[in-house]
Amino acid sequence: MEKIGLNEIREAYLGFFESKGHLRLPSFSLVPKNDKGLLIINAGMAPLKPYFTGLQVPPSTRVTTCQKCVRTGDIENVGKTSRHGTFFEMLGNFSFGDYFKNEVIPWAWEFITEVLKLPKDRLYVTIYLDDDEAFKIWTEKAGVDPKRIFRLGKEDNFWEIGKGPCGPCSEIHYDRGEGVVTTVDEFLKAADEDRIVEFWNLVFTQFDKDENGNYNKLSKPNIDTGMGLERIAGIMQNKYSIFEVDTIRKILDEVCKISKREYGKSKTEDISIRIITDHIRSTTFMISDDILPSNEGRGYVLRRLLRRASRHGKLLGIEGSFLGGLCDVVIENSFKAYPELKEKRNI
Ligand code: ALA
Repeated sequence: MEKIGLNEIREAYLGFFESKGHLRLPSFSLVPKNDKGLLIINAGMAPLKPYFTGLQVPPSTRVTTCQKCVRTGDIENVGKTSRHGTFFEMLGNFSFGDYFKNEVIPWAWEFITEVLKLPKDRLYVTIYLDDDEAFKIWTEKAGVDPKRIFRLGKEDNFWEIGKGPCGPCSEIHYDRGEGVVTTVDEFLKAADEDRIVEFWNLVFTQFDKDENGNYNKLSKPNIDTGMGLERIAGIMQNKYSIFEVDTIRKILDEVCKISKREYGKSKTEDISIRIITDHIRSTTFMISDDILPSNEGRGYVLRRLLRRASRHGKLLGIEGSFLGGLCDVVIENSFKAYPELKEKRNI
């Protein structure tokens, strides 16, 4: 497996799906448009909802994006674990009534085994309980060993987030451990222990969930996929922690430099270092999308993240303001994919 940087993985993914007839679109803003139920974009499909439901006509029926996302539901875990973050990038390929399972499953397998060259004996696939169609395509078209496919229930293999387009899904997982997992129970245990990590979710979007919880069938089935860029970069770089991924480690190193701390020396200081590293990513991206600190809504989320970062800076003994300097590392890392970072630098 070739070691490859986060920025290169993004490019490889978008280029691959362009070669499969997709239109590459830049990331949408973190600020949702005409979506009252959503504060901040939290998935690659979120800004595309009107295309799935047929409310708007997409510029192409095949689209690929790398979407900036913020999720703060797990904020208390950020810093304490190696994998929680409030900011992440989600790679995705989308079909708006165009292709379906027959195409997306073999493409996904081709991308991970032929482009990224992930070893097949480290990969597992999960499918929704009764999704025999997906099982057949995974085994017959993609050639996945049936013993490496597990069937899971709604909790794991049905994707929905609030109201909107949703459906059964199939996930691809990478095993960092030794030995083969042979039963669903063994699989779930290994996933719980972070030995097995899910990194790509293929959603077979067939329903539009309304505010009353009804699943209304969409006129045409769609495809929505999401691969966490930081996660796949961790796998490709053989790192357990997202904070060890090349671009993120650069931010972390800068936090260590200005706080004159060494990473890995103290458990509590490491937590603060990781919190600042994560929060400076989310806040820099939020501000570049014109979100400003305030007492409510998105502005409040931003204010809370800034306060937490600043408090942890104090805990590390950093004197004076330091967040502005760290923004520059985020901008330098990511401005090629997100030019707005540089354009808005001086606001
Ligand atoms: N929408 C799906 C997710 O966010 C792909 O996991």
